Amino acid sequence: MPITPDAELDLMFPPEQIPTEVKAALPSDLHIRPLASSDYRRGHLSVLSVLTIVTDPGEAAWVAQFNAMRAAPRTYYSVVIVDQSDKIVAVGTVFIERKFLRGLGSVGHIEDIAVDKNQQGKKLGLRIIQALTGISENSGCYKTILNCSDSNIPFYQKCGFEKKENEMAKYA
Ligand code: ACO
Repeated sequence: MPITPDAELDLMFPPEQIPTEVKAALPSDLHIRPLASSDYRRGHLSVLSVLTIVTDPGEAAWVAQFNAMRAAPRTYYSVVIVDQSDKIVAVGTVFIERKFLRGLGSVGHIEDIAVDKNQQGKKLGLRIIQALTGISENSGCYKTILNCSDSNIPFYQKCGFEKKENEMAKYA
């Protein structure tokens, strides 16, 4: 199946919000766009499974989660890269947190970056991070942050991030 045009998809946010320089920097056989409500069928969860163990909730629950995220305006931005067969090969999300501090500023939180094993090392991770950082900065965020393992620090440094403070977690 060829790449489905953006105009035929039910997208999480307007595709114009992805910086044009990032779109232009991708190889011509790949396309970056917002997550679509039909992307469960394009392998969204299978790409995420390179990041962690994925429990498949089924398509209806996946779509309900998509709709819940989209219902929060200007908050969730998930992007995907699709290949010539319309299969998803890379994914990532930025979540915009509104604050009372910093002059009622906002912070972008990058989450769940994953590139299909066969496509790693081709700068797709970099393009996803550039797209999400662009969206965060264009949303007025004064910083964009993320958590990662030690082994991914060099990747994020190549994307222009620097190590700051520590992550704390309490699992339920
Ligand atoms: N160690 C050192 N350098 C690295 C690493 C690494 N682990 N990964 C990438 N790089 C370098 C590349 O060599 C490249 O350098 P160059 O510009 O000098 O050529 C640069 O970083 C950009 O790399 P990409 O080709 O864009 O990396 P890729 O497309 O493979 O994506 C990613 C990197 C996302 C880490 C991918 O390998 C992946 O999906 N890994 C498994 C899941 C994962 O760990 N996701 C990140 C979790 S953290 C989070 O989600 C916030």
